[in-house]
Amino acid sequence: MCPGYADNDQGVTVPPWKIKVVEPIALGPEPERRRALETAGYNTFLLRSEDVFIDLLTDSGTSALSQEQRAAMELGDEAYAGSRSFFRLEQAVRETYGYRHVIPTHQGRGAEHLLAKVLVEPGQLVPSNLYFTTSRVHVELAGGVWTDVSIPEAEDPESTHPFKGNLDLAALERVLAAAAPERVAFVRVEACLNMAGGQPFSLANLVGVRELTRTHGVPLILDATRISENALFIKDREAGHADSTLAGLIREIADLADGAVFSSKKDHFVPIGGLLAVNDDDLAERVRELVVVYEGFPHYGGLAGHDMEALAQGIHESTDERIVRHYVSQSAYLAGLLLERGIPIVVPVGAHAVFLDAKRFLPHVPQEEFPAQALAAALYLAGAVRSMERGIVSGQRGNDPYDGLELVRLTIPRRVYTQEHLAYVADIVTDVYERRELVPGFQMVYEPAHLRFFQARFEPRAPFLEPPREKSRAAAVR
Ligand code: F0G
Repeated sequence: MCPGYADNDQGVTVPPWKIKVVEPIALGPEPERRRALETAGYNTFLLRSEDVFIDLLTDSGTSALSQEQRAAMELGDEAYAGSRSFFRLEQAVRETYGYRHVIPTHQGRGAEHLLAKVLVEPGQLVPSNLYFTTSRVHVELAGGVWTDVSIPEAEDPESTHPFKGNLDLAALERVLAAAAPERVAFVRVEACLNMAGGQPFSLANLVGVRELTRTHGVPLILDATRISENALFIKDREAGHADSTLAGLIREIADLADGAVFSSKKDHFVPIGGLLAVNDDDLAERVRELVVVYEGFPHYGGLAGHDMEALAQGIHESTDERIVRHYVSQSAYLAGLLLERGIPIVVPVGAHAVFLDAKRFLPHVPQEEFPAQALAAALYLAGAVRSMERGIVSGQRGNDPYDGLELVRLTIPRRVYTQEHLAYVADIVTDVYERRELVPGFQMVYEPAHLRFFQARFEPRAPFLEPPREKSRAAAVR
């Protein structure tokens, strides 16, 4: 146990902070929410945030800054080149993760873009656990072939496997034996596998991946976006690590890889920022040649000096077990309320979010009619709770068939909402669950060429969540 950490009787870690600045939020009436939803084409990405009461769209860039981060921002050195803030950031990354070369980018996908440009040749494979939307699209735009080598449990929302983020080592070995090293660009391992429900890998599995990549001579790159949470799950679930420090485990994970991409908008508590960090000198040089084309000078990579200061401080906070334990326990709390009420969610509960299983929540809606999209829209209409589709809209490319996970993500921004907010969210989910037969399927009326989930538009195939509930909890609150 680390100093200063305590759980309350509902199992939530008491936040190791108190609130100094607040931002007002308000619940609009049902007819306004319905209008907002129609204007947004039933896509929660297209809602205005002022029309949202509890915003669980994403944990990306939505965390609360600490007073130390805000204070550090005052020290931002906005020099174009040689910025003091860059060197502070470089030192924080080296101390925490150990990588020698640090290239800041405007956000995670900036790092993914550069990595794909330098490492992926047309036709080369990128074996990975499941996929992440932007990670995959950059590999594909570079001509690479995304190759899923996750364990089968990753796509089973009811499997209680404690490490659903693991790679299937036998499958990876088959791919590498057939194609490595020439036809494999790199192996990618994502910490707390987002699309599977925020599921960790075990340290033992990562060691196995390291051995295979070394034997077959291909680089191992981490998507370390949610490395702190993955480290906490290793501490709590994997035998032999209970007495490790979080910082020690984070470093142990990072040491196993040749480099990492980070979207710092998650575990590093900043509104904007990303990193590409590697050990190899040649690789770093090639990335620096490209960063000036796409992001900016290597000493800022699309970030302001004050952004790099906030990020350097955020990296230190991301190794504080009390802080990480608090937000992970918030997901567990919300999940516990939903499980008590028989609502189908992905288990084990992930770190950054609770994922509703839309296939079981709306069994009357076939997957081609976008049940997760419809469920996300219904949660908004019922109580102005904004969530995100993580199913066929996010997963399917072109005309490829897709019968994978169909989830709605209730993502918990770090250090932002209280237990009262989360209890309200549980009530709204329960309200929709009780009226689930009133949620029809959708048809897609606009489909963008890339990453369609961001901007696609939909129409319901039948009246949507009607008649409205007269005395819903949302109405009572009003
Ligand atoms: N990798 C992972 C695992 C991510 O979750 C994200 C972003 C990225 C890379 C890309 O980083 O957004 O900074 O460009 N995930 C966000 C989300 C968008 O809502 O899960 P980015």
